[in-house]
Amino acid sequence: MAEKFSTLNDFSETQNEYLNLIYEIMESRKYGEKPIAYVHTYGCQQNVADGERIKGMLAKAGFDFEDKPDNADFILFNTCAVREHAEDRVFGNVGALKNIKRRHPRALVALCGCMMEQKHIADRMYKSFPFVGLVFGTHALHQFPELMYRALSTGKRVYVRDNDDLLVHEGLPVKRDGSIKGWLPIMYGCNNFCTYCIVPHVRGRERSRKREIILAEAKEMINAGYKDITLLGQNVNSYGKNLENSVSFAQLLKEIDDIEGDYWLRFMTSHPKDCTRELIDVIADSKHVSKHLHLPFQSGSDRILKLMNRHYDRKKYLDIVNYVKSRIEDVSLTSDVIVGFPGETYEDFKQTLSLIKKVEFTSLFTFIYSPRVGTPAAEMDDPVSAEEKSKWFRELLDVQEEIASRRCSDTVGTVQKVLIEGEKGKDGILNARTSGNIIVETEGSPELIGTFQNVEITKAGNWILKGKIKE
Ligand code: SAH
Ligand code: SF4
Ligand code: F3S
Repeated sequence: MAEKFSTLNDFSETQNEYLNLIYEIMESRKYGEKPIAYVHTYGCQQNVADGERIKGMLAKAGFDFEDKPDNADFILFNTCAVREHAEDRVFGNVGALKNIKRRHPRALVALCGCMMEQKHIADRMYKSFPFVGLVFGTHALHQFPELMYRALSTGKRVYVRDNDDLLVHEGLPVKRDGSIKGWLPIMYGCNNFCTYCIVPHVRGRERSRKREIILAEAKEMINAGYKDITLLGQNVNSYGKNLENSVSFAQLLKEIDDIEGDYWLRFMTSHPKDCTRELIDVIADSKHVSKHLHLPFQSGSDRILKLMNRHYDRKKYLDIVNYVKSRIEDVSLTSDVIVGFPGETYEDFKQTLSLIKKVEFTSLFTFIYSPRVGTPAAEMDDPVSAEEKSKWFRELLDVQEEIASRRCSDTVGTVQKVLIEGEKGKDGILNARTSGNIIVETEGSPELIGTFQNVEITKAGNWILKGKIKE
């Protein structure tokens, strides 16, 4: 099969030149002092991974980073469009910058990410916030140095959108946020068009990175000491379909798992319609893949699943869950669920509750439906009031809290392998995480950060466990 999306390795040749030019401009402005960047990312891990690439480019151009915008020479909001609430936060936080130009007239304020791939939103922000000097969408990430240089060198506003070239651009520098847990994108975009979702509209068509490039990056991360690596894609189960040498996600996962080292491997997100037994078998037989499957079901009602264009029904979902439970001992299942999809009735909602009770998820990401301009669901009749939806939502949270709390209590007295991730505060308490992705607090020395330990669980809260490190 011909490769539909080619991989370019052109970053270093063209864009590196622009990073050097940016370095020179900032050098002349700051007289030897390092320029400061503030990069704020909203949304999912895919956006976080993009933010890490932007920071990689900025670091190459000589920038240091601060976690407040006050003294920054470059301020960037990497935005998310998935729900109205996410967008409102961005509008509020960008608006709050309006005085920044008065204090620091040469600061360059930029907006990027998924919101900028929606024309009506990008236009509105560009008009409402005249102090914004650079706007670019997710498809222009690899051109960031050139665009930033243009804004800095001309002093004119730069606005680049609608640049959907469907390519995978490799070779971008990365500055990862953590040194223990790391994200590894394996594909971009989405072809599923769930009727409520904006992601395919703002991220473009599904395209996979080449297997060899992913394997090399995984090795690099393991050698650099990363202990918890998450493979990223909107639907990792369809990985590899557009590659010349087609390879399934299960095969890729197995190849990464074969890399020697002391680490955990996770992935997200798995779509139930493409979740194969082969994949579950690979997880069950693996050395490094965590005992955790994030498998969004969205709704327990077949009628609503159809309206959502999810391509599976309740039975198929429960069949997968049963197989997962039979193959992977103590597996931790997590999921996403939407309450109040257009036309959902209380009867449909009760199906969602009953599915939650059947599966007993360790945790759930719960959302009230939020209409997104340009998606089919936004055009559907939505007769149920916001108050009614909130009532259902609270009912769901109560049911899940009871399940999560029972699941946590069941672990008291067991010994769990955990990864020590960091200090909780300054009082000698460490934050750790189980293979099943449950947070455990334990006493210990900060020297243990980044190591795996066995912890005896002594106490359970609703979501968090407490434990003692076993000698
Ligand atoms: N690709 C992933 C998830 C991407 S978005 C997947 O398919 O599971 C993360 C979650 O946000 C979705 O799983 C869904 O539960 C929620 N979501 C997406 N669009 C939404 C909307 N319009 N309103 C409410 N929740 C939404
Ligand atoms: Fe959105 Fe569905 Fe794609 Fe996930 S699979 S990103 S929910 S369209
Ligand atoms: Fe948001 Fe874009 Fe992710 S819309 S959820 S940041 S892909």
